[in-house]
Amino acid sequence: MTHARITIDRDFTIADVPRRLFGQFVEHMGRCVYTGIYEPGHPAADARGFRTDVLELVRELGPTVIRYPGGNFVSGYRWEDGVGPAAERPVRIDGAWHTIETNAFGLHEFVDWSREAEVEVMEAINLGTRGVEEARALVEYANHPGGTYWSDLRRRNGAEDPFDIRLWCLGNELDGPWQIGHKTPAEYGRLAQETAKAMKLVDPTIELVAVGSSNRQMPTFGTWEHTVLTHAYDEVDYISMHAYYQEHDGDAASFLAEAVDMDAFIDGVVATIDAVKAAGKHTKQVDISFDEWNVWYQSGLDTDDQPHQVEKTWREHPRLIEDTYNVTDAVVVGTFLHSLLRHGDRVRIANQAQLVNVIAPIRSEEGGPAWRQSIFWPFARMAKMAKGRILRLAVSSTKAPTARYGDVDEVDAVATWDEESGRLALFVANRSLDAEATVDLDLHGLRATALRSAEVLTVPEDGDRLTANLLDAPDAVGLRPLDGVALDDGAVRLTLPALSWSAVELEVARG
Ligand code: AHR
Repeated sequence: MTHARITIDRDFTIADVPRRLFGQFVEHMGRCVYTGIYEPGHPAADARGFRTDVLELVRELGPTVIRYPGGNFVSGYRWEDGVGPAAERPVRIDGAWHTIETNAFGLHEFVDWSREAEVEVMEAINLGTRGVEEARALVEYANHPGGTYWSDLRRRNGAEDPFDIRLWCLGNELDGPWQIGHKTPAEYGRLAQETAKAMKLVDPTIELVAVGSSNRQMPTFGTWEHTVLTHAYDEVDYISMHAYYQEHDGDAASFLAEAVDMDAFIDGVVATIDAVKAAGKHTKQVDISFDEWNVWYQSGLDTDDQPHQVEKTWREHPRLIEDTYNVTDAVVVGTFLHSLLRHGDRVRIANQAQLVNVIAPIRSEEGGPAWRQSIFWPFARMAKMAKGRILRLAVSSTKAPTARYGDVDEVDAVATWDEESGRLALFVANRSLDAEATVDLDLHGLRATALRSAEVLTVPEDGDRLTANLLDAPDAVGLRPLDGVALDDGAVRLTLPALSWSAVELEVARG
């Protein structure tokens, strides 16, 4: 039996919940845009070609901000190709994913779609093959009211009002040798600084994200962030982090503990930012945009159903990295969201990669249905329920050995308290593959008065830890009521099934 005690004190808080932590990512890659969010001719498509069945699932998932249009794609992209009359837009080669890009979907379509999806736009610019001039032209096109060359072009293209895009990424993964326009830290640092300066001269209200390391294993990790920020600290507001995880060789225990790595990765980037801040005698604080994260089976599952190799032929929207997610993946994704939230004082933006079909919580078939993957559920519940202040929990849990991370807590949790509505939301994972967990909540300064809701995602009765939602079984993995919640005179005890992720909402009063 696994046991944990979670101490929660009303006065020990981390930060307000940054609502931008619940972001997603739409890249022109595989079938994320084409036959994902956009498919003219689909029975559920509206007049603009937006799939309303997918839009409904996106609204249910509840992202607050969406990064667009890439990813590796953006490092060879000309944004001008995606604006103006659709019939006149050029068809191009996308070198990043060896794909034909028709440009039928571009900036105006994405802004219109975002309004339907009720999300903020986070626009990435190309600093691979392009630079300062194209970036400042794009800001003028998107945000300037009118009366200038680029803003009037936007108006002629059908958007009288500015798009008012606040959040911009200064390129993508330029530390990676695979990236079109790969750069050294010094080359990128100077380019980011000058581009940021020029973009803010067009619109001083925008917020800018500098490119950080593509992952923690990059040989330049640490020195990249240090060098880039030494150049661009004053001009940028965030530095990015990217991380993808997968299960290796059936080692589920280590996989379930990957949030330990995510925690350490974040702590390392925070330390580097603050070292540059101290050495440069800066007063402002740069924070983190964790703008690509997820489970991604980059090796070991290269079946016909889950191809992840770059195409060998030139085609439009081929199937790329359409990973199918199981129960274990969903629990791991839950713990990644815990990690992001407990670092909410410094990780202010985060984007799960990607929204539809490409390593995604939502899948869709061309001409066919759309459905929720297992990983949809932790995201949807946390995006909806994490409100108010993030609480600093003290978790004392049974530990279990892992090959990659040593002894790791079997119970992992995070909580938020919304004083206005009087609700405490607790998100909790039981990483044990075979043991139930009992969890006692030790509340200080708060008293639980009622249970509002309790749901759990775990192994279904007729399945196992690898059960997944498929085209012909779209609801095999989901949330069900969590029965094991006992409230006794303000004290709370939870009983969690083995390998599970739960969301519990309590009504609490001061006391
Ligand atoms: O999300 C898939 C790819 O992963 C992105 O294009 C790139 O930025 C990262 O390497």
